[in-house]
Amino acid sequence: MGEHVAEPTGHNPEPSGNDQSLYDRVGGMAFFEVLVDRFYDGVVNDPVLAPMYPAEDLPGARRRLTLFLAQYWGGPAIYSDERGHPRLRMRHARFPIDDEARLAWLGHMGRAVADAGLQPREEAEFSGYLAAAAAHLQNLP
Ligand code: HEM
Repeated sequence: MGEHVAEPTGHNPEPSGNDQSLYDRVGGMAFFEVLVDRFYDGVVNDPVLAPMYPAEDLPGARRRLTLFLAQYWGGPAIYSDERGHPRLRMRHARFPIDDEARLAWLGHMGRAVADAGLQPREEAEFSGYLAAAAAHLQNLP
């Protein structure tokens, strides 16, 4: 019962005719580091989300999300080297992710993406992916 490749949490197949990954187009690892830092600044102050995150290991949590997103979008496969197969549905099963939690998560990430000032094409591609991935990870109504 693994995740198949078409699911939004697997590896992203680059559209054909596109010679540069989104990872390269947005500026590489530094982009994902800044994005995830901004995202977590919102999460730690969020009454719904903060209790789910490991207060004793926030640097680790930042690192895992940064490396996952970078890898998904065509960067180095450091996430898989460190964590193995993402299996994000399974890894999120112990968190109560309902509509409220999903929308809170997307809200913080949406603000971080907006602050990043991406070109419209990259912003649309990235935001669409995040919304689909979050829907895929929701596990409560
Ligand atoms: C829908 C709302 C979501 C909630 C409430 C949520 C919550 C969490 C929590 C509490 C953790 C544990 C933090 C840690 O120790 O690493 C986590 C881990 C993680 N999340 Fe989410 N998440 C959500 C959506 C997403 C989405 C959309 C993605 C990907 C696009 C994602 C990717 C990850 C990754 C890569 C990890 C680390 C997995 C690991 O290697 O252990 N999450 N999430």
